[in-house]
Amino acid sequence: MRTQVAIIGAGPAGLLLSHLLHLNGIEAIVLESRTQAEIEATIRAGVLEQGTMDILNNAGVGARMQAEGALHHGIELAFGGQRHRIDLTELTGKAITVYPQHEVIKDLVAARLAAQGQLLFEVSGVQLHGVDTTTPSVAFVHRGEAARIEADFVIGCDGYHGVARPAMPGQGRQDFKRDYGFGWFGVLVESAPSSDELIYARHERGFALVSTRTPTVQRLYFQCDPADHVDNWSDDRIWAELHARLENDDGWRVNEGRIFQKNIIGMRSFVSTPMQSGRLFLAGDAAHIVPPTGAKGMNLAVSDVALLAQGLEQFYRRGSEERLQGYTAAALKRVWRAEYFSWWMTSLLHTFADATPFQREVQRAELECVVGSRAMATALAENYVGAF
Ligand code: FAD
Ligand code: DHB
Repeated sequence: MRTQVAIIGAGPAGLLLSHLLHLNGIEAIVLESRTQAEIEATIRAGVLEQGTMDILNNAGVGARMQAEGALHHGIELAFGGQRHRIDLTELTGKAITVYPQHEVIKDLVAARLAAQGQLLFEVSGVQLHGVDTTTPSVAFVHRGEAARIEADFVIGCDGYHGVARPAMPGQGRQDFKRDYGFGWFGVLVESAPSSDELIYARHERGFALVSTRTPTVQRLYFQCDPADHVDNWSDDRIWAELHARLENDDGWRVNEGRIFQKNIIGMRSFVSTPMQSGRLFLAGDAAHIVPPTGAKGMNLAVSDVALLAQGLEQFYRRGSEERLQGYTAAALKRVWRAEYFSWWMTSLLHTFADATPFQREVQRAELECVVGSRAMATALAENYVGAF
């Protein structure tokens, strides 16, 4: 098989990139190890920045997001028995939209299939060859048969555990890492939203987050041991923990309902540089991870591939590699800002096992500064909505 751009991974990065390339008349083939049903059912991100919405709208895949996504103009920070609203729109002129990642995936898959895009599911044994030449190729197995794609470029959109990053030549590479030693326990609940806006709560027992999915489904998270197992958590135990961390004496309660999905994710920060080597480029979680507290991961995946699509368009239209060569620098500028913000939000709101009493008091004081100072609230809001 021959194509212009071989893309590994059909997450938000890979699917959106293939669609943006298609809109520019550039051919791509996407290789995905899971089934269509699996990628469309994986519950992950929920918060889209305005810039992400603009990119999806301009690519013609935003209709359902516009109709079904919920626009949020503020978030709440809860600590010390009180809730404080951060008015995102008043402070920045912008808002965020809650629209689940798997719905974005469904919209992108539908658009790719409607345009007869080449999307190969259930591939295995993906191997990259010749990425430092102008004729790279990808070998893989599909439906039991060995196959190979010859391409001009290979783009690794295969997430943190993918094969593209390890295929990058080692020389000159640098990885930056931080493990937080805790995770998030996430549940999906059949019940009306407990709150119109997201609530990020700091409590002595650990962080908790109230989010929504639809008018009848809530998404709730609480800080946990990343090595814990969902089977250790009965529904009763989960509700007791959420009530303890989120409620105070003002009468507000978390709505209970049937819990129909439970999962645990670890929290880490990670950046691997450079994001390009020869004709191999990395985008999204393949190159960088943020802890979910800042709600930035999917937004970064989208902004990476928007940059790559521009670079590839310049290459095919004008024969210039200037933008492609500037990809790492352009992408990392935004990535590091999101790394900073996600680390900061995580540090501000979680309990750390090794925190001294002094550090706990400073954390509480910092939260008071954020809700008490318009300047600090504005800094949080600008980062949260992706205003700069
Ligand atoms: P992925 O979504 O990981 O996609 C990679 C794809 O590649 C997968 O489909 C995988 O099956 C495939 N693949 C892997 N290896 C291979 C291989 N060898 N061959 C072929 N295919 C392969 N982000 C936000 O912006 N906002 C949020 O509110 C937010 N909340 C989150 C909450 C949780 C609980 C979690 C876990 C994440 C959250 N994120 C959030 C992060 C966001 O989900 C990720 O950053 C996003 O999925 C990255 O997209 P991606 O396309 O780079 O990678
Ligand atoms: C959601 C996830 C996040 O990481 C976050 O910061 C806010 C909301 C969510 O899944 O709804």
